[in-house]
Amino acid sequence: MKEVEEKVWIIGSVVARDALTTIRDKKTQQVGFRKSVVKMGRIGGYESMELLNTEEIEIETPLGKCMGVAVVDKEKIVIINVLRAASPFVEGLLKAFPHAKQGVISARRKEEKGMKNDSFDIEINYAKFPEITDEDVVIIADPMLATGSTLLEIMKYITEGKQKPKKIILLSIISTKIGIDKIRKAYPDTIIVTVSIDPVLNSDGYIVPGLGDAGDRAFGSI
Ligand code: URA
Repeated sequence: MKEVEEKVWIIGSVVARDALTTIRDKKTQQVGFRKSVVKMGRIGGYESMELLNTEEIEIETPLGKCMGVAVVDKEKIVIINVLRAASPFVEGLLKAFPHAKQGVISARRKEEKGMKNDSFDIEINYAKFPEITDEDVVIIADPMLATGSTLLEIMKYITEGKQKPKKIILLSIISTKIGIDKIRKAYPDTIIVTVSIDPVLNSDGYIVPGLGDAGDRAFGSI
């Protein structure tokens, strides 16, 4: 993983780029799309471990002692599933963090009102989060960081609690510079991890080249 600007990390491994190519391809059908998003969640989880606290520990193998490394935060993870597109992404993330607590939030862009100044009004229909403590690392999983409107709204929910998490990682597959800049300006401590920063946001708020509508493609709505 490479830090391309302060607190913005790009996953550049071949396995991630290969999965990205599959999900971008319009020939990839629902099942193939969903499987690759699950794979992306797993990859994103493993790569995000690079940003967690580790410690050197001594262990004993059946044949002798040796030093090893332990990711101490891996059991302090809270994953936020941004419905619905993040569901297969979270399925993969849970392979990396099987002990994670989970929150869900259903956020809808009010596309009927149109995009203004690269932003949408957001409607939150449902949100249920576990208790978040100052020892927790929150990973917000949303495959597409486009305008940033949805994620700004979700950040409000997470940061208005009594206790602030130790760290917030926003994990996406494809992002835009517009979305990243908005999040970084409003929440400068947030870490963004993504596979690609695409160049264009079209007038409908979709990322180009992007991959289309992640929810529709994963859930077979198209
Ligand atoms: N959500 C999507 O699913 N795709 C985009 O391009 C933007 C937001």
